[in-house]
Amino acid sequence: MTSILGISAFYHDSAASLVVDGEIVAAAQEERFTRKKHDPGFPSLAVEYCLREARLSMGDLDYVVFYEKPLRKFERLLETYVGYAPSGFKSFAMAMPVWLREKIRQSSVIRQRLGDGLKAPLVFTDHHESHAASAFFPSPFQEAAILTLDGVGEWSTTAFGVGQGNRITLTRELQFPHSLGLLYSAFTYYCGFRVNSGEYKLMGLAPYGRPIYRDLITKHLIDLRDDGSFWMDMRYFNYCQGLTMTSPAFHELFGGAPRSPESAIEQRHMDLAASIQAVTEDVMLAMGREVHKQTGMRQLVLAGGVALNCVANGRLLREGPFDDIWIQPAAGDAGGALGAALFVWHQLLDKPRQASGQDTQKGSLLGPRFTTQQICDFLDGIGVSYIRATGEQDLLDRVSDILEHEQIVGWFQGRMEFGPRALGARSILGDPRSSRMQSTMNLKIKFRESFRPFAPCVLESEAHRWFGLEEGQTSPYMLIVAPVREEHYLPIDEELERTMASDPDLRKRVNIPRSVIPAVTHVDYSARVQTVDRARNPKLTALLTTFYRRTGCPVLVNTSFNVRGEPIVCTPEDAYRCLLATEMDALVLEDVIVLKRDLSDRVDAAERERHLAQFQLD
Ligand SMILES: [Fe+2]
Repeated sequence: MTSILGISAFYHDSAASLVVDGEIVAAAQEERFTRKKHDPGFPSLAVEYCLREARLSMGDLDYVVFYEKPLRKFERLLETYVGYAPSGFKSFAMAMPVWLREKIRQSSVIRQRLGDGLKAPLVFTDHHESHAASAFFPSPFQEAAILTLDGVGEWSTTAFGVGQGNRITLTRELQFPHSLGLLYSAFTYYCGFRVNSGEYKLMGLAPYGRPIYRDLITKHLIDLRDDGSFWMDMRYFNYCQGLTMTSPAFHELFGGAPRSPESAIEQRHMDLAASIQAVTEDVMLAMGREVHKQTGMRQLVLAGGVALNCVANGRLLREGPFDDIWIQPAAGDAGGALGAALFVWHQLLDKPRQASGQDTQKGSLLGPRFTTQQICDFLDGIGVSYIRATGEQDLLDRVSDILEHEQIVGWFQGRMEFGPRALGARSILGDPRSSRMQSTMNLKIKFRESFRPFAPCVLESEAHRWFGLEEGQTSPYMLIVAPVREEHYLPIDEELERTMASDPDLRKRVNIPRSVIPAVTHVDYSARVQTVDRARNPKLTALLTTFYRRTGCPVLVNTSFNVRGEPIVCTPEDAYRCLLATEMDALVLEDVIVLKRDLSDRVDAAERERHLAQFQLD
């Protein structure tokens, strides 16, 4: 038996994963355990969990692999700062001690953090090799083109190549600072959202705007060549030498200072969002064509933070040259921990790989699970009353009944998701047919005002009848955006549409019922679809089937189980706290239902404030 522990840490979204004899046994982000979103620290708790899941101890490990080579990254940082001296001195001085402490001595730091029990050798892979391995090795394809699109790893920000059998070969790369991820992040920052987490909001803002700055971007900021490679004019950016993303020249070009985070969103910001989204799609399509031309492959796999841009992914799938695309669900740096471990198994140890046509990511349900008994013990311990379903169908009928009454359900089932999306293991569910659901969920659960619709999960067998996916085309990891099918559109009052088009309150605009599933339909009729199948998620499939049978609608709203700024819940206790702090109506933990109305004596406004105050606005 060969056990390989993969680790990513010290930058963003630390994680650990465990691969035993080539099988992905466990993977989790550290933030879920420390309750600190995007926790960049050493993933001690995630490592502990992975070992526990496999019933191994530190001494049983055969290899530990870190997802990037620390010295190369240091060298990149050093050369960048030297290149931009002296104006870069300030942030260099600020970054330096961190690097000295944590990064240069990384291998001894890692050994020390794992403890004396560790006997295994420590291996380092390249950042992009880790991403590429995470995209190819778990994919359903025996061979595929590989494209990784990142913010910044080491020197290379974009890489492509091929995966065949048990090997990946990266043949070309673009180097820092020319980075599609950083270009997108620069606009994220400029439009007043948080870099490294607000990119999703910018993507959600784009449908409100017109891409009127597209030419300005391609004329000044980025020189895109036919082969998909590009060069960025660094006069407009500030991430090499400064602590912000954009420079005064950028602000002048787009007509003003960056938007401050809580201020009003103007039409200009929507147009900027639409423009950078359009450019990103142009670049990804051009790269897709080039990669296809160079490799001759019919399938493509993707990873890296930009691969979470599901609007661009949807276009690449529909308009690009590839027959099929698979995207690593933990596309960001967390997934590097998984890729690195698989890289050691297949590439370094030369272990065979036979693709079966199904991915080996196991629905990305790779985190901890809790039994009904553990859940009952927890609830009994704190004296909370609950209903225990008499069987699965009883549970599903009760939950469906709650949902049909426009009530909101916290759904906690099986193993926690690995990656940024909730896929029906730690999800909040609602009825997408309700025209109030978008604002109710945002205000009463997430405590935010959002201009974005929620994501739908849909029975895989019904997906093509509701969304613009071909029959058999799937999106199990919620990484593809597709339009709602026209037959589900509702007629729109033109008068209302006209007034709304200029209403500064985007929430009013998103809440015009455009389809029979308004809670998940964006202003341009797009939806971020998750297709649900029995093999990956039997329980959610059963719930959707029950809901479909009772209502004729095979779709539910699926949003992550957390309040804004909080990592997705991990344990029954996290879920219970979230129930108390929000106006969720019911919490379903395995076979157990806790109703909020039975807890009225426990809801304490001060306690709620304390809970919410722990999490930074994002
Ligand atoms: Fe990365």
